[in-house]
Amino acid sequence: MIKPDAVRAGNIGNILRMINAAGFRIAAMKLTQMSLERAGQFYAVHQERPFYGELCAFMSSGPIVAAILEKENAVDDFRKLIGATNPANAEEGTIRKLYATSVGENAVHGSDSDENAAIEGAFHFGGVEMY
Ligand code: CMP
Repeated sequence: MIKPDAVRAGNIGNILRMINAAGFRIAAMKLTQMSLERAGQFYAVHQERPFYGELCAFMSSGPIVAAILEKENAVDDFRKLIGATNPANAEEGTIRKLYATSVGENAVHGSDSDENAAIEGAFHFGGVEMY
C-alpha cells in the first residue's frame, strides 16, 4: 500500500517509478480508501499495540494505493526498497527515507511474508482484479 500521507503529498508517481525501476511486476492496483473498521481488520495483528488506534485512524484518513507486486524474492526485496519502519533509521535511497515523515506516517506498507502477502492481496482485490 501507498499510505494516505504519500498519496496526499503527491508521491504516488515517484513511488511507482521506484517500484518499476526495482523490477516488480504490478499484478493488481487501485486507489481506494479503507473505513476505520476495514483498517482495523487489516492491522488486527497489531490490536494489542499502543499505537493501534492511531494507526487505524491514519490508515483510514484518506485514499491509499493498494497493489499486488510480483518478483523473485519479492517480500525481502520490497522491504529493502522501502527501508526501515521508522524513516529515521531507513537507508539512503529507500522509499521511506525519501518520502516518509514519521514511524506512523511512513509512506508505504509491505507484506512481511509470502503467506501474509496472499492474505493482504485477497483483502484488497477480487479475482477479476488480479492479472
Ligand atoms: P506497517 O509496515 O504498515 O505495519 C504496521 C505499522 O504500524 C507500521 O508500518 C507503522 O506505520 C506503524 N507503527 C509502528 N510503530 C509505531 C509507533 N510506535 N507509532 C505509530 N505507528 C507505528
